[in-house]
Amino acid sequence: MDKLVITGGKRIEGEITASGSKNSSLPIIAATLLSGSGTFTLHRIPDLQDITTFRQLFDHLGAETAFSHNTLTITTANVQSVLAPYELVKKMRASIYLLGPLLARFGHARVSLPGGCAFGPRPIDLHLMAMEKLGARITIETGFIDAVAEGGRLKGATIDFPVSSVGATGNALMAAVLAEGTTIIRNAAAEPEIEALCHFLQAMGADIRGTGTTELIIHGCDSLRHVEFSNIFDRIEAGTILAAAAITGGSVTIRGVIPSHMESVLQKFSDAGCRIETTDDTVILKSTGRLKATDITAEPFPAFPTDMQAQWMALMTQAEGTSEITDHVYHERFNHIPELNRLGAHIDIEGNWAVVHGPQALSGTKVMSTDLRASASLVLAGLVAEGTTEVLRVYHLDRGYERIETRLQNLGAEIKREKYSEFG
Ligand code: EPZ
Repeated sequence: MDKLVITGGKRIEGEITASGSKNSSLPIIAATLLSGSGTFTLHRIPDLQDITTFRQLFDHLGAETAFSHNTLTITTANVQSVLAPYELVKKMRASIYLLGPLLARFGHARVSLPGGCAFGPRPIDLHLMAMEKLGARITIETGFIDAVAEGGRLKGATIDFPVSSVGATGNALMAAVLAEGTTIIRNAAAEPEIEALCHFLQAMGADIRGTGTTELIIHGCDSLRHVEFSNIFDRIEAGTILAAAAITGGSVTIRGVIPSHMESVLQKFSDAGCRIETTDDTVILKSTGRLKATDITAEPFPAFPTDMQAQWMALMTQAEGTSEITDHVYHERFNHIPELNRLGAHIDIEGNWAVVHGPQALSGTKVMSTDLRASASLVLAGLVAEGTTEVLRVYHLDRGYERIETRLQNLGAEIKREKYSEFG
């Protein structure tokens, strides 16, 4: 197993290009199942464990994939299975994204129910509701979702989501583009990753109106084509690197971004006392030597993203004053708090509301990763903690950050990856 060993106190300084987005690449990869017309070429796909897992799933279905230098090629002409097995689905919840495209193209999908998650229940009821609205007959048996399109083809419908759901919106989109007739999705997720999926589906020939908004109108078509496509940047990796510069009193320039995807996060860095500058594809953060306590509330886009909540909490341990952090998306996404407190932070929690008392000097020790963004917050804390911090179970981090230690080393961090055993 791997751990990251960090010696705190080094400033994060320099320039970097943002990686491709994990959370747009996963539905885009799933959407290639909608067309067996030829070979897809997808650029700026991050080299992450989740992508590897998805390729294993595609291999299991009978698709061919190849991955090199962040370009993924996929051919789904020879897909002959619609089964996504538990052994692979349990490694990545986003496997649920196979449901919509398999149903749309083959009229049948058999996907293992995703496993649990470190920060509370991750229901899929909205995914299933959307499929049923589109005419799928769903049965849950022996841990599997078995979905069959009545009459062999899905039919357009109006889908009203009671809760904004990125995944369920993605699945509904991928199911609707090949359905017979028109689908309207209300209270759709408007995250940039969903907008990117819409752009990909439009490139394939899909008829989608309202991209980037919470109401999407899809006129189903009979077939879609393979395309070459460039993925968007990862706004959460970019936000995490900005936080690394801010927490260490440094400055960083991140190229290859779309600032409008990060407005709520950039505003909070500015409110906290950082100097923020942007061009059409670049964001620059410069520390001013002071960090001010700044409250955040995590809500659906364009509000502050839940995937930056843990990183913000680490930053606020160094800010002057008391910060209130509320997560309205995942009410239990606070596994990072006990570990941050072990580093010397003073954070209280009540339900989905946490209060960070700062500034608190942190001192390095061993800390345990529990989920992807919680481990990112521990790395951030380690960058500023006195002495050495060891972040264990780094496989969580590898799911969402491409070579994080190399990228931080290149920006001045003293951080290295080491093997270790948890058994003696
Ligand atoms: C996506 O997860 C992201 N994952 C998550 O990022 C992100 O935190 C989340 O969206 C919210 O932005 C990927 O894109 C692969 P949701 P998803 O459906 O689609 C409730 C990371 O760190 N809900 O938007 O699973 C749910 O409980 C990961 O990169 C239902 O009630 O999230 C939550 O409260 C973590 N029923 C809210 O909706 C459902 O059927 C938003 O969840 C589905 C969701």
